[in-house]
Amino acid sequence: MRVTSLDEAVEEFEKDAYERPFVIPTETVYGLAARVDREDALREIFKIKGRPTDNPLIVHVSSPDMLRDLVSGSIPEEYQRLMKRFWPGPLTLIFNASDGVSPVIKGNGQSTVAVRMPRSPQLCRLIDRIGVPLAAPSANTSGRPSPTTVQHVVDDFGARVEHYIDDGPCAVGLESTVFGIIKGRAVILRPGCITREDIEAVIGREVCVENKAVGGEVLSPGQKYKHYSPCATVFLFRGADWKDAMARKAGELGERRIGVMGSAHESYGFTVHKRFDLGQSSQDVCRGIFAGLRALDKSCDAIFIRAYATDHEGLAIMDRLEKASTHIIE
Ligand code: TXA
Ligand code: MG
Repeated sequence: MRVTSLDEAVEEFEKDAYERPFVIPTETVYGLAARVDREDALREIFKIKGRPTDNPLIVHVSSPDMLRDLVSGSIPEEYQRLMKRFWPGPLTLIFNASDGVSPVIKGNGQSTVAVRMPRSPQLCRLIDRIGVPLAAPSANTSGRPSPTTVQHVVDDFGARVEHYIDDGPCAVGLESTVFGIIKGRAVILRPGCITREDIEAVIGREVCVENKAVGGEVLSPGQKYKHYSPCATVFLFRGADWKDAMARKAGELGERRIGVMGSAHESYGFTVHKRFDLGQSSQDVCRGIFAGLRALDKSCDAIFIRAYATDHEGLAIMDRLEKASTHIIE
């Protein structure tokens, strides 16, 4: 197992080093990457993560030109506007896939392919040197919180992955927004830090959010699986009186060690075993959620967190918190 910086990976580039899955830093979360033209390596991603094989992978390109071999037909005008505004960056778009895209990437059934261009120029340089796009899901064991530092990935995969590329903590901290035009409707399949409001401002029409499997209809296979779960029991407090509700729940839990994710300045009416400061701005909260869940999980039996308003980044924050929660207290 070796850990290199992104600069080293680009400068000391060896073609053979990229034949097996390897870990890449992106602005959102760390990814477990493989070349799109190496089916064995793509299959190995699913094994290493314990990922169901029907859950498709996101493909990372170094420029919009790389779409040519991935996409069938012309690129919708609204996508062109979104790419111009948000690429490189944390926006994944759903395209009709060309015949050349491996079924392993498409989750053995989808006719579409999800693509994004990561923000880091150095990562894009590496993709250029490799010469083909990289398919990469988040680099966590399936069901666990996504990784926002290379240490999180090492904690999950250890020596099962040979090459880790470290570029420090992720700047965004939540996975990309997944957006598609599906049967003419503009739909967010997974909210992220490019918000519904951001997308509506660019395409000039209403965007719906379908981030949950409703009535059995699943637009994005990832919606139906358990997500972001630490081993500790996670309680999400949604009511306006969340502080009182936390104190009541702490009383019920008795001796159990309770961790709280929230603002450092808050005081609570019970003994907090460990705190994780989520900071002030919604960008801070996005950056801290997964790191906080992983940190508190090391020493707490229960994790308490309050709800956030669901406008702008709040929609992505609440999507991840609801999926991570064992209990939602109204
Ligand atoms: O920020 C990110 O997107 C990170 C970094 C590494 O780029 N990647 C990531 O990948 O979060 P992953 O696999 O953990 O999540 C991809 C999500 C899944 O929910 C999957 O079901 C959905 O995107 N997805 C992928 N391809 C799709 C497709 N063709 N149609 C609908 N949903 C798709
Ligand atoms: Mg994931």
